[in-house]
Amino acid sequence: MKRQPSSSPRSTKRRTVSIIGTGSYVPEKILTNEDLSHMVDTSDEWITTRTGIKQRRIAAKDENTSDMATRAALNAIEQAKISPKEINLILVATATPDMLFPATACFVQKKIGATNAACLDVSAACAGFLFAVEIAQQFITSHTYDTVLVIGADKLTSITNWTDRNTCVLFGDGAGAAILKHRGGSHGVISTHIGSDGRYSDILFMPGGGSRCPITRDNVDLNLQTIHMNGKEVYKQAVTAMLSAAKKALEQAGLSIHDIACVIPHQANLRIIEAIADRLGIPLEKFYVNLDRYGNTSAAAVAIALDEANRSGRIKAGDYILMVVFGGGLTWAGTVIEW
Ligand code: ACO
Repeated sequence: MKRQPSSSPRSTKRRTVSIIGTGSYVPEKILTNEDLSHMVDTSDEWITTRTGIKQRRIAAKDENTSDMATRAALNAIEQAKISPKEINLILVATATPDMLFPATACFVQKKIGATNAACLDVSAACAGFLFAVEIAQQFITSHTYDTVLVIGADKLTSITNWTDRNTCVLFGDGAGAAILKHRGGSHGVISTHIGSDGRYSDILFMPGGGSRCPITRDNVDLNLQTIHMNGKEVYKQAVTAMLSAAKKALEQAGLSIHDIACVIPHQANLRIIEAIADRLGIPLEKFYVNLDRYGNTSAAAVAIALDEANRSGRIKAGDYILMVVFGGGLTWAGTVIEW
C-alpha cells in the first residue's frame, strides 16, 4: 500500500507542477565497445566491467544539439497534447550548445514554432536537466508561466578526445525533454534539491573554446577543446554528491527511500549506481538503467531515462520517483516526483 508522506510535502503548500509529457531522441549510429577497441588501446571487457557501457550513439556531423533537442521536444509535445504556441519558456540544459550564442533554446524555438516562449540555456553539465526542472518549477509556482519545455541535450562526442582512452569510451549523444505545467491534484514535483561546489571545477572541464582560452592557430593541437577529467576523483565525488542530493530531496518531500517506486539516476557508470544503491540500502532493480545502450549522454541522460521509464510503463500514475544527477562544476541535484 502506498505510504503517505510523513511530513507535509511542498506540493501541499505550493502550486502543483506536473510533467504532462516526455520525449527523447538518440542518433541512429551505434559505436560499440568492439568498435572502440580498434580506435584506442581498450577492450569490451575493460569498458563493460569498469563502466557497464556496451555501446553509445553518435550524432551525424550535421546533426546538432538543437536538432536532437527538437526531436525530443516534439515527442514530448505530442504526448502532452499541447500546441507549441502554448509554451511560455524553453530551457535547454547543455554543455555542448550549437554555438556559444545564441542559446540553443532559441534554435529549438525556431524549429518547433514556439513563438510565445522566452528561451535560455542552462549550464550545469550533466546535472543540467534537473537544474532546469527546478527553474521551470519556480516560474510556474510563482504564477509567472504556465507551460515550460525543459530539455537536456548534449553532443558530447563533439568535444571528445578520440585518442584518450580514459574518456572517449564513456560518452554518447542524445536528448530528452519534458513539458511541465500547472495541473490540479496532488501529483507533480514534490521536492528538488540542487547544489554546486566550484572548488572542484578542475576535475571535469573543457579548458579551451571559451573566453579564457580561445582556440587559436598556436594551441589547436593541444586538445583544449575536449573533455578533461580526473576519473577517480569524479567517481568519488559523484557517489558522495548523488547520495547527499537523494537524501535531501527525500527529506524535503517527507518520504523514505522505501516509498520510492523507481530511482532514475544520471547514467555515467553502473558502478556509481551500484554504490548508491548499496548505500541507500535498496536493490539495484529499483534503478532505471540504460547506460549500457547509450553511455553517458550528459544532460540528456536522466531525461532520456525518464522518457523510457514513462513510455515503457516502468513508472505509473501515483508512483513516487526519485531522480538524482551529478555533473561537472561540480553540480548535483535530486528531485522527488509523484507521477
Ligand atoms: N581501456 C583500458 N584501460 C584503461 C581505459 C580504457 N578505456 N581507461 C583507463 N584505462 C587504464 C588506466 O590507464 C589505468 O592503467 P594503469 O593502472 O596502467 O595506469 C587503469 O586502466 C585503471 O585506471 P583507473 O582510472 O584506475 O580506472 P577506474 O577503475 O577508476 O575506472 C573510470 C575509470 C571508468 C573513468 C572511473 O574512474 C569512472 O567512471 N569515473 C567517473 C567518470 C564519470 O562518471 N565522468 C562523468 C561524470 S559527470 C558527466 O557526466 C560529464
